This record gives sequence, structure tokens and C-alpha cells, in this order.
Amino acid sequence: MVKKEEMVVTPWKVSGRIDYEKLIKQFGTQPIDEELLERIRGHTGRLHLQLRRGLFFSHRDLDWILDKYEAGEKFVLYTGRGPSGPVHLGHLVPWIFTKHLQDAFDAKLYFQMTDDEKFLVNPELTLEDTARFTYENALDLIACGFEPGKMVIIRDVKDIGHLYRIALRVAKHVNYSTVKAIFGFEDSSNIGIIFFPAIQAVPCFIASEEEGHNVPVLIPAAIDQDPYWRMTRDIASKLGYYKPAQMHCKFLPGLGKGGKMSASMPETCIFTTDTPEEVEQKVWNAFTGGRPTVKEQRELGGDPSICTVYAYFYYLFEEDDEEIAELERRCRTGGVLCGDCKKRLTERINRFLKVHQRRREEAKDILDKFLME
Ligand code: TYM
Repeated sequence: MVKKEEMVVTPWKVSGRIDYEKLIKQFGTQPIDEELLERIRGHTGRLHLQLRRGLFFSHRDLDWILDKYEAGEKFVLYTGRGPSGPVHLGHLVPWIFTKHLQDAFDAKLYFQMTDDEKFLVNPELTLEDTARFTYENALDLIACGFEPGKMVIIRDVKDIGHLYRIALRVAKHVNYSTVKAIFGFEDSSNIGIIFFPAIQAVPCFIASEEEGHNVPVLIPAAIDQDPYWRMTRDIASKLGYYKPAQMHCKFLPGLGKGGKMSASMPETCIFTTDTPEEVEQKVWNAFTGGRPTVKEQRELGGDPSICTVYAYFYYLFEEDDEEIAELERRCRTGGVLCGDCKKRLTERINRFLKVHQRRREEAKDILDKFLME
């Protein structure tokens, strides 16, 4: 039995209080340290907000991929989405960062839509549902600014012909006890999901197959996807490929007390299709680091370190480092009330969503240009 507060991080379940330092040890990854940040800065100029503020915090072989790049070997990017519902702001975190990496390193992106995975793990979803969400979610992805020719969207069910040969070669090298240990499969797990990790491994090797020589791959994603890469890295050299490198981000929290933003708690989750009124209502009900009364808040100040509203400014909506430091100071010293912050955040989110929703509509006309040939 898993205790209520015990940390669980798998591709399908994230719960408990997440200790990211412990995760680095548990998963055997490396922290993104100052030295690496300095190297990245050398290529990208000013560090992206998600690196400056430690949202991307861990990696595997990022130093290796930079060595390769500096020696003139270009890499490709790979990330994805399990289309099980509408996209929320948490999903956009790695996509926004991936777009930044693409621009800075001029890297092609392979983006996998695992409509098969979500069909297999979610008893309620049909293949028609996951195909519909694939379409809807692809609009959000394109709205992040990706251009045709620089991003390929792989839809597992439709594009299986492109994936199956590599998936079989991967699967032949992975035995059941390995995936059981990595993913926690049980006797009752359906056999589809036991095979599925081979499918998620495939885009790590597609560029190498297409180009006829090994191409380094970098995967930006939240740390919940790491089990897939542990398995993939294990077998890559057996198949004659490079091991894929990773950059891992933390989870954008939901607007409730504790926990990541998750579609299973819609009232604490901002979807990209939310109306301004829905956003206002959700932010108004957000968990903050404020005091019970205005008087106490003015006298004692609030605690931004536990405040979800502050977290949203910090990780997404306040780009200016001086402004964010000032907001923290004013909160701690009682110079700002939660109501003011909530209003300001609502405005920021709605401004962002207005543009995103327009781009999402425009994406309908160009979506075909991103699909696999
Ligand atoms: P999925 O649909 O669970 O999540 C899509 C991406 O969003 C990240 N993510 C978050 N990031 C920050 N804050 C959050 N609250 C949050 N919630 C989710 C996930 O880590 C992921 O990067 N099996 C995958 C689909 C997939 C994939 C990939 C993902 C296939 N190939 C390669 C990343 C990289 C899935 O179901 O993602």
C-alpha cells in the first residue's frame, strides 16, 4: 500500500509531495548545474526563463549532446503528448521550451501523439476519442509557434507503418522483467501497454534511420516520462544507435493545495480553451500563501513559497527578474494582498490565452503540413 504522502512519479501517475532532489537520485539523472547553464548560455544568449528559474532541473547526457553540437554534429528534438483530453498550461511548459531550443539550435522536432497509449491505459477512452484529442491537441502544439518543415507530428495509430519495424527491433531486446521493474506492470496489466514502451522509444531513432547515419536526439519533457528513456537508453547501443539525451522539467502545480496541474482535477487546472470567466473563477479559488485576514496579511506578510498564484508568475507569466523579486518582497512584507495578485494573474493568463486561442484557430488551416508523409 502506498501511503498518502509517499512520492509516486510514473508516466501514468504523479502523487505525493515531490522531492526533486530525491528524484534525481532515485532515477539516476544529473542536475543541470551552473557549468552546464553557462555552456547553454554560450549558445542561446540569455537563459530561457524555464532554465533561469530552475523549472528544467535535471538531464541525461546534455553535456554529451553539447559536445557533439560544438563539434559540428547537429541534433534533433523529440517530445510528445498522450492525447487523453484537452491541453492545459502544464503541457505547454515543455512545448514552449522545446520551441526555444529549436530556434536556438536550429533543430528539427519529432512530436509523437500516443493515441494508442491513452487508449490502452484509460478504460473510458475509445480509439475515436484519442484520435479526436490528437487533432485538438495538435492545434495547441502548432499554436506554440512551430513551423511546417521543422516539426513532424507522428500519430501512432495512423503512422504505425512508419514505426513498427523499429518498435519490433526495440521490443526484441527488452524483456518483461525489465519493463515490469521500470513501469510497475502487474499480472492484470493488458498486453498492449506492456508492448507500448517500444513504440514510445521509436522516435528516438527515426532521424538516424531517415538520414542513414546516427543522429543525436534531445528530449525535453517533464520527469514523469523518464522511465521510457531508461528503457530506451538501455537498448540503444545494442541496436547501433546513440542513446537519447534528456532535459527534465518539474511539474507546473495545479491551482489547488499541492500536486501537479492535472486534467483529472479540472477546477484547479487552466485549459487552453477556457473562457476568460472560467479563468477568473479558477484563479479566484486558487490556493495562496496568504493570511486569513487582510489585517494579518498587512502585518505578517504572506508566503510565496507555497503560493500557486506566485508559482504561475514565477514559472510562466512574469518574465522580468526584477519584477518577480519585487513581487516576492512585497508579498513577504504584507505590501500586496492575494486579491490583487489574483486579478493580475487572471489578466496575464487571459491575455496569453487570447493569442493562443487565435493561433489555435489558425492552426486548423496548416495542420496537414505537419503530418508524417
Ligand atoms: P502527457 O500527455 O502526459 O504529457 C505531455 C507533456 O507534458 C508534460 N507534463 C507536464 N509538464 C509540466 N507540468 C505539468 N503539470 C505537466 N503534466 C504533463 C509531460 O511530461 C509531457 O512532456 N507518454 C507521453 C507522450 C509522449 C512523450 C514523448 C512525452 C510520447 N513521446 C516524448 C514527452 C516526450 C504522455 O502521455 O505525455
